Amino acid sequence: MSWELLLWLLALCALILPLVQLLRFLRADADLTLLWAEWQGRRPEWELTDMVVWITGASSGIGEELAFQLCKLGVSLVLSARRVQELERVKRRCLGRNCLKDCMFFLIYLLGIDILVNNSGRSQRSLVLETSLDVFKELINLNYIGTVSLTKCVLPHMIERKQGKIVTVNSIAGIASVSLSSGYCASKHALRGFFNALLSELGQYPGITLCNIYPGPVQSDIVKNALTEEVNKSMRNNIDQSYKMPTSRCVRLMLIAMANDLKEVWISDHPVLLGAYIWQYMPTWASWLNCKLGKKRIQNFKNNLDPDLPYKFLKAKKD
Ligand SMILES: NC(=O)c1ccc[n+]([C@@H]2O[C@H](COP(=O)([O-])OP(=O)(O)OC[C@H]3O[C@@H](n4cnc5c(N)ncnc54)[C@H](OP(=O)(O)O)[C@@H]3O)[C@@H](O)[C@H]2O)c1
Repeated sequence: MSWELLLWLLALCALILPLVQLLRFLRADADLTLLWAEWQGRRPEWELTDMVVWITGASSGIGEELAFQLCKLGVSLVLSARRVQELERVKRRCLGRNCLKDCMFFLIYLLGIDILVNNSGRSQRSLVLETSLDVFKELINLNYIGTVSLTKCVLPHMIERKQGKIVTVNSIAGIASVSLSSGYCASKHALRGFFNALLSELGQYPGITLCNIYPGPVQSDIVKNALTEEVNKSMRNNIDQSYKMPTSRCVRLMLIAMANDLKEVWISDHPVLLGAYIWQYMPTWASWLNCKLGKKRIQNFKNNLDPDLPYKFLKAKKD
């Protein structure tokens, strides 16, 4: 092969490779490390089978789907939430598909937990000026203090056994803030700060790992159950969730992150995924964009429409 041809080939590669990466990014529904792990990494079935996993907030949405998919892998489950009837339904769903013969359900099983999944949480749809302080306290108590206290309960037992994994379902709202969810964003940002600090303290315990999951919009009851201006006031209308990521896809990616010991993963379709990258690398642009989108969200909210309509529109354009 002549030098000239070789140079042409190299130049072609230099052009094509970034294009391929760009195309991959445009089609991405998670950060590229997680997608790379999905493509070539260890599979959840090999790593998680025979573990004991405690999932909080397992009575609906992401927690329910996680229970279902873990069940199929032969994992022993501890499921918790407030609505016992819903937990019973999830248990029947797991056992009913005959995906597991000896699935175990406990109320509390602190000592033998291999993996704790801090998943329970509530969101918020209300403006700061119209929201009572109790709502902010409720969000911090459930999303932040509840998670910290459970982690502190389980961690000493994991350290004693020299092994364990703590998975926390955070949110893209823990990286990038949005209007109408100030208390929710604050509680998720607090979790990010806490777990990043904890990670640096756990260096001396190599068997203990943390995995922080940051999903974007995912189909679940999160909006229906969101807090509003007052603690006991529920959402005014049901909101269409069809444009969000299917729960099963989000959970599949979560399992890959857990099996591959990834420390922080972002799971979201565009435009929210792109928004998170802009927030991380170009904060001033992100603030400008956030104000523009925020105005539209608030306008929709005040007109009793879905505040997420701008995202829905952008996603529809992408699809
Ligand atoms: N869906 C999304 O778009 C999205 C995006 C980013 C992050 N997330 C995060 O994903 C996690 C799961 O949410 P989801 O989307 O699956 O919503 P979901 O369907 O509403 O599920 C929330 C779960 O949390 C439990 N929970 C709520 N309040 C609780 C309390 N006071 N004490 C104990 N458990 C409580 C609920 O069970 P009970 O009501 O029976 O107690 C339910 O099982 C949350 O941490 C959420 O912030 C969701």
